[in-house]
Amino acid sequence: MTDWQELESRYFFSTYKRLPVTLVRGQGVSVWDDQGKEYLDFLAGIATVSLGHCHPVVVSAITEQASTLIHVSGLVYSVPQVRLAQLLVQNSSLDRVFFANSGAEVVEGAIKLARKWGKEKRDGAYQIICAQGAFHGRTLATLTAGGNEKHKAPYPPLPEGFVHVPFDDVEAIRRATDAKTAAVMLEPVQGEGGVNVPHDDYLRQVRAWCDEAGILLILDEVQTGIGRLGALFGHQLYGVEPDVLTLAKGIGSGVPIGVLLAKEHCAVFSPGDHGSTYGGQPLATHVAYSVLKYIIDNDISGQVASKGRYLEGRLRGLADRHPLVTDVRGRGLLWAIELDAELAEAAQRACLEQGLLVNNVKPTALRLMPPLVVSQEELDRAVEIIDGVLGKLGGERA
Ligand SMILES: Cc1ncc(COP(=O)(O)O)c(C=O)c1O
Repeated sequence: MTDWQELESRYFFSTYKRLPVTLVRGQGVSVWDDQGKEYLDFLAGIATVSLGHCHPVVVSAITEQASTLIHVSGLVYSVPQVRLAQLLVQNSSLDRVFFANSGAEVVEGAIKLARKWGKEKRDGAYQIICAQGAFHGRTLATLTAGGNEKHKAPYPPLPEGFVHVPFDDVEAIRRATDAKTAAVMLEPVQGEGGVNVPHDDYLRQVRAWCDEAGILLILDEVQTGIGRLGALFGHQLYGVEPDVLTLAKGIGSGVPIGVLLAKEHCAVFSPGDHGSTYGGQPLATHVAYSVLKYIIDNDISGQVASKGRYLEGRLRGLADRHPLVTDVRGRGLLWAIELDAELAEAAQRACLEQGLLVNNVKPTALRLMPPLVVSQEELDRAVEIIDGVLGKLGGERA
């Protein structure tokens, strides 16, 4: 049998510390490795396979569009991208859309939009206030906007124009704002930073400050958008509307696409300002249209909210039983289990052995982000595996 992991080590840059598993097939919330072993997938391609693996809606959208028209470029009109743009605008508080292929690309687009807006509408303001612990992608500008110093260390000089303040601290944003500030950029809940949930009032206060100061609020919902937190967009849970919004991951349910949206008043791009060869191609936009329509028509976000409450109860039960769990936090179907020591990698490996894929988002925290269509029975199975793993880790330490 081919040793794919050994072959990989010969050919790849080693940018990923991969789990020792080669996945070859997926169906719903399950995936299978090349030995035929089944796993419950609570990684979901990093919160991306929103409808689960090989959902019939996704499979038929791909098949249908692949045999009709795959790619044309932005130099001509095409129907699927217009239909997706219309569906997004009709179901959000934003007015205008640009499509790209990934999260980082649309955050990069948001940064460019804010800079152009600052140049035209705020006397050359260009600075963006970002949060410590944030993650916005791996391009030079987006990793600079992010809050992870390890990601930045190999790459100076980094682009100028980003200032960082503690997350969940509106006073810090007020203090950091000056004539150079064009925008504040935040995730409603920080995903890669460890599932950091702010106080319920935080985004409302930030919104009020952005209005008072005359600066833009950019919300990066690449991870939290499209039902993940139990609302179509995470910001709806907090009663705010962003000026600029970024989406990716869940809207394609595994097919690469990123979406940049903006309100009319700051939609300042004009021809030649921005572009992407693949962005908005018929294949990706038809799939994203089908996924989004399915999520809206079937109230998947509402189902996520109730599944999230159920999962929260089960995770709090784990915290009660296992002294090594110091916190559980999250919303909808994005949760972290915080441990009192750097045991997350050991816990992740033990879960893998028991047939559950989870992510060690921090050395001390496990993250759960199953497909939005996960069943209660699958949530129970995952919690039982984690229960056993935590019991074993706690027992080994005692
Ligand atoms: C909030 C947020 N923004 C941006 C990105 C970058 O997305 P991508 O990996 O598709 O470039 C991520 C990826 O995890 C993310 O969570």
